Amino acid sequence: MRITVCCTDTKVPPWLEGLRAAIPGAEVEEWRPGAPQADHAVVWAPPQQFLDEQPRLKGIFNIGAGVDALVKLRLPPQAVVVRLDDAGMSVQMAEFVCHYAIRFFRELDGYEADTAAGKWSFRRPRPRADFPVGVMGLGVLGQRVAQALAAFEFPVRGWSRGAKEVAGVECFAGTEQFDAFLSGTRILVNLLPLTADTEGILERRTLSRLQPGGFLINVARGAHLVDADLLALLDSGHLAGAVLDVFREEPLPAGHPFWSHPKVVVTPHTSARTLRDESIAQIARKIRALEEGKPIAGVVDRHKGY
Ligand code: NAP
Ligand code: GLV
Repeated sequence: MRITVCCTDTKVPPWLEGLRAAIPGAEVEEWRPGAPQADHAVVWAPPQQFLDEQPRLKGIFNIGAGVDALVKLRLPPQAVVVRLDDAGMSVQMAEFVCHYAIRFFRELDGYEADTAAGKWSFRRPRPRADFPVGVMGLGVLGQRVAQALAAFEFPVRGWSRGAKEVAGVECFAGTEQFDAFLSGTRILVNLLPLTADTEGILERRTLSRLQPGGFLINVARGAHLVDADLLALLDSGHLAGAVLDVFREEPLPAGHPFWSHPKVVVTPHTSARTLRDESIAQIARKIRALEEGKPIAGVVDRHKGY
């Protein structure tokens, strides 16, 4: 079996070594133009030339959860496209989101500023009921995040495309329930995939529907957010703050207003990292299953785009 690896922005040699060790007998090489046809590909944001030169791939394994950069390309029609299915990401995402939701709710920035200035001061505890959290996207990551927030006793609501039941989470579905979802939300967490339906969804109308003093945590994709609309709502005071892990252009360009805005925290697309060992083990398991004609989880629906 031949496996080709074509991952941009990635240190490739450890992936080659790991895949060789996990699938003994497989020929695993980094793709170069003109390389022979492979059976399976392990990719991150590959160029179109790669796919054009590998028309008979059986499986294309994305080393991230989001496949927006991949499904934009012309893909071999018979290839099964597979996203990372958790592989250690959901616990990282839960840590990240809970950390920033709790920081905001408990006013920890304010406490740190006070003690840094030598001030021993208290703020009145705020009722948790006044901080309902809404999670957009109840997939692999969204469900884990929603349940982690519920474990801290936040009122949690979630929004997905199809109707869902998630223990401890009030669930909303579809465009018809979007406004009801938003109007009961104060802290909004975005964990949607980037598709034609969701691009630009975090715009003025959406963000204005949040409860006053709202807070945005965008950990999905930068193109979900209309940057100018967020800045306007932060400046008007309707929103109290935002944590942004993802951006339309990454790295976030020097001089972008998000870098210096006092109500914005910027993190460098790090909320849930691909963990190499877990990911290699998962991909190797799935390649073996595909070869044996067994079903696998995490297959992308090309029509939906996630
Ligand atoms: P997933 O399992 O595919 O879940 C996606 C969820 O979004 C599903 O619940 C889906 O609804 C919902 N959804 C999709 N389109 C919708 C629409 N038009 N309206 C309402 N709901 C919609 O994805 P995941 O693994 O949780 O990952 C989510 C995203 O996180 C990824 O696509 C990626 O962009 C991002 N991500 C970011 C980082 C980071 O470090 N910042 C790391 C990993 C992933 P249904 O369940 O009804 O289909
Ligand atoms: C990271 O952003 C991913 O999609 O895995």
